[in-house]
Amino acid sequence: MLDCEVTEIIEKLEFDKIRLDLPTYNATQISSQIGGAGNKVWVTFYRGVFDITDFVKRHPGGERIMNAAGSSVSPFWQFYQLHYRIDVLETLAKFRIGNLETPLDETPNMNYFDKEPPRNPTVITRTSTPFCGETPPALLPQNFYTPNDLFYVRNHLPVPTVDTSAYRLTIQGVGIPLSNFSLSLDDVKQKFAKIRMPVTLQCGGNRRSQMGEVKPTPGIGWTGGAIGNAVWGGASLRDVLTSAGFNWTNYTETFRQNKLHIQFEGLDCDPFGDCYGASVPLHFLLDATYTPLLVYEMNNASIPPDHGFPLRALFPGLIGARSVKWVSKILISEEESPSPWQRIDYKIFAPSVNEDNVNFNSASAIYDAPVNSYICSHKNGEVVERGMIRMKGYAFAGRGRGIVRVELSFDNGDNWQVVKLTRQDSNYSWTQWEIEVNVTSAMDVWVKAVDTGYNQQPEDLKHIWNYRGLVVNAYHKIKLNI
Ligand code: MTE
Repeated sequence: MLDCEVTEIIEKLEFDKIRLDLPTYNATQISSQIGGAGNKVWVTFYRGVFDITDFVKRHPGGERIMNAAGSSVSPFWQFYQLHYRIDVLETLAKFRIGNLETPLDETPNMNYFDKEPPRNPTVITRTSTPFCGETPPALLPQNFYTPNDLFYVRNHLPVPTVDTSAYRLTIQGVGIPLSNFSLSLDDVKQKFAKIRMPVTLQCGGNRRSQMGEVKPTPGIGWTGGAIGNAVWGGASLRDVLTSAGFNWTNYTETFRQNKLHIQFEGLDCDPFGDCYGASVPLHFLLDATYTPLLVYEMNNASIPPDHGFPLRALFPGLIGARSVKWVSKILISEEESPSPWQRIDYKIFAPSVNEDNVNFNSASAIYDAPVNSYICSHKNGEVVERGMIRMKGYAFAGRGRGIVRVELSFDNGDNWQVVKLTRQDSNYSWTQWEIEVNVTSAMDVWVKAVDTGYNQQPEDLKHIWNYRGLVVNAYHKIKLNI
């Protein structure tokens, strides 16, 4: 069922109506546009016919839009429901060129998400299908290691149900001698030394809702809770690739030239055959101190379904998108993963780039996450009593650059007070901080962190605004009222 708001927009934008100012086309005329004289891409939605030829290259979901070429977008949108949004529908309306002669049945009739795992209702649901949920930021300082059931979840597709007795991880590609090398879950657990590592995972879109205050950005409106810290247990990816026969010395020069990528594919797929995927340059593994993992444990328990059961990749210090959950295939390749989440989404552009002029090929995939900090204990606009309050939060920097300092300002940046760092365990884990503040009147509070590379956060969101709303790391600024 579409919710009332969507139905109202469909009516308002006249998708369900014949527009008398436009010509009417039948299904054959629409499907024959591709490969026809103008090689156009036409799609339908309710009674509307749309020429999206110019939009195809700017589609944030990449080439998958071509699945709908020549026919209705509805079967795809019923799965990728994020399209039933006012901005998306308004964009589509701009491309209307005609009316569809015979209407199709547009009623959503499949539940693709009927096998989702149970979830803790305390986690704030940002989207329910696929499930994306955020830890209430106020709860984050309560634990140095975020409990599994409170850990944020970012799914792009339904959670797959995995039969561990049939599960295999296949490893193929450049430098892997066998074409049919695979490991069972028990192989991964028994053949390789178990490494336990505290690692903070943060979504590339954490804090996106704040960027939306400057100018709206499409995507999930996370506040500061799309981040969590856990002790992960699993095998070293380097060891696993070595056991698959990868000879590191043969490829040293090739890595340095950044010519090889480790592609990962998850078991979470859409009904049209596309699965989640991402890749990481293989040269990252040349640094012997950097240990990406294939993990089967999270905080000493079996990794939960939402976080990648039975096995996920874990790249400490990179944005979460690269740590592929439910991983089933590893391919060493001269190409990046073909997945739209590698080639299209999770890229940052200059503030002047928007949906009308974006060229997804002009930017490279994000790996690293910049220094960031957040006030968890209080919300913007919160009313507090006069007197002492305790403020708490986190700071984190990517690629293992630990935090050297966190500072708060109560006078819009004229003076900065260094706060107490309550716990730091490793440079791949976050730093928690707290401070006692005497509140005498309404005040602005700003926080910023400094990492071991002496990088500091930018002051203003507007200078780092980017169309996809990613790696949002300007000072976190809140106002406290009394
Ligand atoms: N892996 C698969 N297979 N499918 C996904 O949807 N989401 C990615 C990444 N790995 C994703 C995935 C993103 S964008 C993030 S931020 C992290 O997983 C989230 O991990 P979590 O849900 O365990 O917190």
